[in-house]
Order: sequence, then C-alpha cells, then structure tokens
Amino acid sequence: MLNIQSHVSLKPYNTFRIDANARYWVEISNEEDLQTLLQLSDYIDTPKLILGGGSNVLLCQNFEGLVVKINIQGIDISREDDDHVYLTVGAGVNWHQLVLFCVGKGYAGMENLSLIPGTVGAAPMQNIGAYGVELEQVFESLTAVHVLTGKKQTFTHAHCAFGYRESVFKRELKGQYIITSVTFQLNKHPTFHTRYGAIQETLTTMGVSEDKLSIKAISEAVIHIRRSKLPDPAQIGNAGSFFKNPEIPKSQFDSLNDQYPALPGYPVSDELVKVPAGWLIEQAGWKGYRSGDAGVHAKQALVLVNYGNATGEEILALAKLVQESVQEKFGISISPEVNIVK
Ligand code: FAD
Ligand code: EPU
Repeated sequence: MLNIQSHVSLKPYNTFRIDANARYWVEISNEEDLQTLLQLSDYIDTPKLILGGGSNVLLCQNFEGLVVKINIQGIDISREDDDHVYLTVGAGVNWHQLVLFCVGKGYAGMENLSLIPGTVGAAPMQNIGAYGVELEQVFESLTAVHVLTGKKQTFTHAHCAFGYRESVFKRELKGQYIITSVTFQLNKHPTFHTRYGAIQETLTTMGVSEDKLSIKAISEAVIHIRRSKLPDPAQIGNAGSFFKNPEIPKSQFDSLNDQYPALPGYPVSDELVKVPAGWLIEQAGWKGYRSGDAGVHAKQALVLVNYGNATGEEILALAKLVQESVQEKFGISISPEVNIVK
C-alpha cells in the first residue's frame, strides 16, 4: 500500500542530520508498490530522490520533488555449491546487519566491510570499500527498475563498471535506476585480508593469533578500528569521508614528496599514486576546525561534521574552502565522495 505524504522532515533520514524537507515522501517495501508508484500519472514528471539510509548524501535545500525511501527487506539463499553461497538481498536491508548475518553463518567475504552505515541497495552505487576490500569482490549481480519505464533489469558485474568509489549508477546511468536487490557471492572457504591499515595490529592486541584467525575476529577488529576514528552519526552528524582520496600522476607525487617527505602515497598503477585526502586536509590546517555548527572532525580530517544545526549550504561552503586550500597548497584537486543534493 502506497502512502504518499507531503512536507516530511528529512532530518531523521540523513546521517548529516540536515534539517531539510521533502515536498513528497513515500516508503517502498516491495517491488510491486514501486511499479505502482512509477506509473502514477501525478508523479511521473516529479523529480525523484532515492534514499536508503541517507548516509552518503548532503541535502543543500528542501527537496521539491518525491523522496522514495527504499525499505525492501529479505535475505535469501539463491543457490549454493561446494565453494560458494549466493545470497539475494533486498535493497532496504541494513548493510551492517547483512555483514553480521554472513559472519554468523560463516559466509566469508564481507567481514572487512563491517560497520559501514546504510543499505544494501546503495552499496553498489559507489562500490563501498574499506580495509582492503571493495563490494565488487563479493558482488554477483543486481536487479534494478528503470525510473521512467518501470522495466526491471539485471546488471552483472561487467555492466556495473565498478571503480574506486564509482559505478555506472553514479556516472552514465545517474538517477535512471532504482536498485531493488543485490546478489552476493560469498565464500565457504575464507581468504583473510589482514594487511590493510591497523587490522593485524588490532588482532594482536585482541589476542588473536594466526591459527585463531576467523572472519568473526576480522569483523570485530574492523569494528574496533572504525569506532576509534570515525564519528558515530548518532552523536555527530556526518556522512563518512566527504572527499575521495585523489589519484595523482607519479611525477607530481615525486616532486611533492621532495617538498613534503612525510606525504603518504599508495601506487595504484605505473602512472598513478593515491594520496590520502585526510593528510592533505590536515596539513592545510583544517583538522578540528569549526565555524558555527559546521566543522572538520578532530580525529579524521576527511570527515566533515554537523555539530547540530548546520545547513547543507554551510557544510558545502566549508567543503569548498577546504578544496580551495588543498588546491592552493598542494596543486591537488579533491572531489566529493558524498552525493550533493541541490
Ligand atoms: P544513501 O545516502 O541513502 O544514498 C546514497 C546514494 O545512492 C544517493 O545518490 C541515493 O540517491 C542513491 N541510492 C540509495 N539507495 C538506492 C537504491 N536502492 N537505488 C538507486 N539509488 C540509490 N562508505 C564506504 O564506501 N566506505 C566506508 O568505510 C564508509 N564509512 C562510512 C562511515 C560513516 C560514519 C558514514 C556516515 C558513512 C560511511 N560511508 C562509507 C558512506 C556510506 O555509508 C555508503 O556510501 C553507503 O553505501 C550509503 O548507503 P545509504 O543507504 O545510506 O545511501
Ligand atoms: N590521515 C591523516 N590525517 C587525518 C586522516 C588521515 O594524516 O586526519 C592520513 C594518515 O596517513 C592515514 C591515511 O590518511 O594513514 C589514511 O587514513 P585512514 O586509514 O583513516 O583512511 P582514509 O583514506 O582517510 C579511507 C576511506 C574510508 C575507509 C578507510 C578504511 C576514502 C575516501 N575513504 O579513508 O571510507 O573506511 O579508508 O579503508 O577512500 C567513506 O568512504 O566514507 C569512508 C569512511
């Protein structure tokens, strides 16, 4: 049953806790209702904003169209063989709950992606990643509905054009499809990813020796590290990393490295080096900065925060200042990871 409401506050529905309103609002809990919605003549031409958990959006003003919140549930085993389990999961399922479900069942592959906020349907949008693993490594396919025609389509890995915080849905097909379910390929025989960041160190502190290593232990280590660095949106409004880590030509990295020997860099190809934007922003003097209720997190400079009543425009204005100063100091352009809704 569709229940389209008017003038709904979006504050509880975005982790930046921006106080913007939706002109129209509807929650969708199954594909049938979605099809019905897309055929309603009153709303065919109305601009639509698809929302999952609202943990990767910055709302810069009231949304004068229809916000469609995807709540489609369900975790089903679609098939199984000696090595893999294939799970088809509703787009509205909470991502971390899915990870915990998999860890509990011994299905390996997602444990490094523990505690990422948001929904399953949004995860392919930017090919979520953390601690050395990206969604595409466990992704098999997804189903999505075309917003204008209502046609249902399957997208395999090859169709999605995944990259670092990228997919076809963020680029060529932006705004054209609503993802309704995702099918994952999980492993019955785990390969552990412990090289990245502080995972190994944290496992050692937790007393987990190599022979005791498990996907549960990795999940717990990742949760521990994340809680120590990233602000909990329930306490301070934020959307995780505001910017992507830039990839710069090796020649530019080498000359910056002469000037700033501490500059970290991770080669991504023979020609490109990825540089942590958090380091650049901290060195440009922004870490812990606050103007009104808009700020740069004191423990992680890549995270912009709303201490209470900042508007989306205020966060965006701060983001522009940060971008300009990084450009001026290092000659590096940093671009937002967060989806800016204007
Ligand atoms: P939303 O914010 O609701 O939507 C994000 C985008 O996807 C919007 O453009 C929206 O229109 C679109 N969208 C949402 N659902 C659908 C759908 N069903 N069909 C089509 N389009 C849709 N991200 C990482 O990659 N790695 C991290 O480590 C990480 N850490 C984070 C930590 C914190 C504290 C926070 C707040 C965020 C973090 N993020 C991270 C970002 C965020 O969690 C992910 O991008 C997540 O996938 C967003 O899910 P969501 O459901 O909240 O999406
Ligand atoms: N750093 C600083 N100062 C800071 C923050 C970071 O100097 O204030 C430097 C340090 O050198 C540190 C390096 O940046 O070693 C990397 O920092 P961190 O490990 O915290 O990771 P990140 O590059 O800032 C990325 C993702 C996160 C993901 C973590 C772990 C992007 C844009 N962000 O952050 O994803 O959780 O790695 O894998 O790629 C998100 O996308 O929202 C997100 C939180």
